[in-house]
Amino acid sequence: MKILLLGKDGQLGRELKRSLTPLGDLIAWGRSECDLANADSLYEKVVAAKPDVIINAAAYTAVDKAESEPELAHAINALAPTALAQVTRDIGCKLIHYSTDYVFDGSGTAPWLEDSPTAPLSVYGKSKLVGEQAIQNSGCNHLIFRTSWVYTKKGNNFAKTMLRLACEKNALSVIDDQIGAPTDAAWLADVTAQAIDSLASGVYHAASAGEVSWHGYASYLIANACELGFPIKVKLKAISAVTSEAFPLPAKRPHNSRLDCSKLTATFGITPPPWQQGVDRLLDHLHTQL
Ligand SMILES: NC(=O)c1ccc[n+]([C@@H]2O[C@H](COP(=O)([O-])OP(=O)(O)OC[C@H]3O[C@@H](n4cnc5c(N)ncnc54)[C@H](OP(=O)(O)O)[C@@H]3O)[C@@H](O)[C@H]2O)c1
Repeated sequence: MKILLLGKDGQLGRELKRSLTPLGDLIAWGRSECDLANADSLYEKVVAAKPDVIINAAAYTAVDKAESEPELAHAINALAPTALAQVTRDIGCKLIHYSTDYVFDGSGTAPWLEDSPTAPLSVYGKSKLVGEQAIQNSGCNHLIFRTSWVYTKKGNNFAKTMLRLACEKNALSVIDDQIGAPTDAAWLADVTAQAIDSLASGVYHAASAGEVSWHGYASYLIANACELGFPIKVKLKAISAVTSEAFPLPAKRPHNSRLDCSKLTATFGITPPPWQQGVDRLLDHLHTQL
């Protein structure tokens, strides 16, 4: 099997390189090999690579910056997936793509299903939704995994920022009115490897089990980091829970980012792990780096 991976240097892309390497002939492209902002040359490049499966982990993910760069976000998150869907259909291969909880408006408290109504609040969410819809409407063989709150051992993410701040500051304020599930990119990469041969098609939610607010997530990280001997300065009672309004940002985020993953389990036999499991692994890894 010839697999073409786009976005090899991102959080998920790096984990996909690991999980896909044993499965066949892997061609991995980063921004320098293939710029997704240029959808025209993308089509030709993919045709020349002759893949059996295209895996698109590349995306414009700067959620706040997207509010002032809507055209670039649209080019990378909507036009590039449109071109990938066209070439997938034309050469008869398969496309695996990733999307986000930010396609929903975050209303209510019930976990979102794959066919729940979408209504993104941000430029990023809108651009990701257009990309999803283009793939679905193209008639190509595809899998789209919608995930949430992704982190990895490498790179910058909320978990590492919170741990750094907890070692530097005596008090922290963290949002507690956005609820979701932190998802380990390593797990999502393993899900992808498991699903790559499947005959299934369509959209699937793929996030960790359970739910937590950013405040609960930060408190869990910091409490466990303390036990592991990280040089934590902040006391747990000095981590204040605040509303989203206390942190005005350019892009609006959904309050309810819960994703119902029962379709993933029913189709692929994959049961998402509790969100704490991957976070514990992350802490163990960071602990060895101290
Ligand atoms: N991160 C999250 O919390 C989250 C949540 C829900 C869904 N998702 C989705 O999950 C997928 C993977 O996200 P991630 O967290 O791995 O993102 P990431 O770490 O930001 O990686 C995105 C990758 O896309 C590449 N890229 C950006 N613009 C490009 C361009 N013009 N041409 C080529 N490559 C370009 C980046 O290249 P450089 O390395 O050169 O910048 C980067 O390697 C995305 O579809 C994202 O929308 C992420």
